[in-house]
Amino acid sequence: MSVDSTSSKLVRIGAVAQALGVSESWVRWLADAGEIPSSRTSGGHRVFDMTDVFVEWERRTVALPPAAEIGRELFRERVSLAGLEEHVVWRRVSDATGLVPDKPAYGVFYYVFTEMLNNAIDHSGGVSASVEVRARGEDVVATIADDGVGIFEHLRAHLDLPDDQAAILELTKGKRTTDPDHHTGEGIFFSSRAVAVFSLEANGLTWVVDNRRGDQAVGESDTLVGTKATFVVPRAGARLVEDVFAEFVDEDFRFSKTRPSVKLAEIGTDFVSRSEAKRLMAGLEKFEEVELDFAGVTRVGQGFVDEVFRVWQKTHPDTRLVPVRMVEPVEFMLRRSAEFGTR
Ligand SMILES: Nc1ncnc2c1ncn2[C@@H]1O[C@H](COP(=O)(O)OP(=O)(O)OP(=O)(O)O)[C@@H](O)[C@H]1O
Ligand SMILES: [Mg+2]
Repeated sequence: MSVDSTSSKLVRIGAVAQALGVSESWVRWLADAGEIPSSRTSGGHRVFDMTDVFVEWERRTVALPPAAEIGRELFRERVSLAGLEEHVVWRRVSDATGLVPDKPAYGVFYYVFTEMLNNAIDHSGGVSASVEVRARGEDVVATIADDGVGIFEHLRAHLDLPDDQAAILELTKGKRTTDPDHHTGEGIFFSSRAVAVFSLEANGLTWVVDNRRGDQAVGESDTLVGTKATFVVPRAGARLVEDVFAEFVDEDFRFSKTRPSVKLAEIGTDFVSRSEAKRLMAGLEKFEEVELDFAGVTRVGQGFVDEVFRVWQKTHPDTRLVPVRMVEPVEFMLRRSAEFGTR
């Protein structure tokens, strides 16, 4: 794996433990097991390259947002949001990243960067944002952090949701906007799927979408002010933005298909209930096809299945429901539901 020469400083085990927030013995165990890369000095001391360690660590711990502060700085600016236009900042960022315009990585980076900065300008209610871009190994990592209200709280208040975590489920659906006169609610939906890793931190919560592992997670965050969007784009092997759109549009290029995460409909420990089903399905009638992504769900209850596949489906016959990524016990419950089988 190639790393930036500026960041390939070798550190000892204590520094790794501190950076990862775990014990030294745990780092030793991880290194012995080959879970994180390390080497030995001629004197026999174990040393680590923090860039390599972070790349591996992120692959394994999806609940952590990308460690944006690691790597070689390419761009850093604090911009004032009043009257700002995202493409003006983009021009400066684009020069600094060294991405080549005819490569997929450029298109993805351009799309996600301008969408996230536009969100800070139009929705955050903040005064300024800090924009940072770093090179880390083969990846380019960008962070846009505004000082506004925080996205999850903003969505909770405007969409009348029960809590901030419910806002994350809404973002996995798409077409969720608090400003329908000027926006369509597509930016985060497509951005989160176009990059290798995408995260939003706000209001003490983190939502991470790890497309390298096909997984997403919600966790705690120490971001209490504003919204921090971080995303990782590999210089080589990025997806074409057009291909990401193509997955969710019909022949007329309308955003007609979605794939919300069933896992994120979980309320406390009482997973699988009718109320969770209602929360999951709210707003999905706007789509022609809904792929319900059961990744990470190990059990569903009869109430949940009945509410989604009989009650909801009956009242919204124009929307096709397609369950995907089910484990056996979940598939069994769905098959058992007579209504689903004969639909
Ligand atoms: N930085 C932010 N601060 C506060 N709220 C935000 C922020 N970014 C997004 N939001 C909220 O999340 C919603 C969804 O954002 P998203 O980018 O997906 O859609 P949109 O901006 O409404 O529409 P589009 O991106 O299609 O123009 C927004 O309508 C807004 O309410
Ligand atoms: Mg937007």
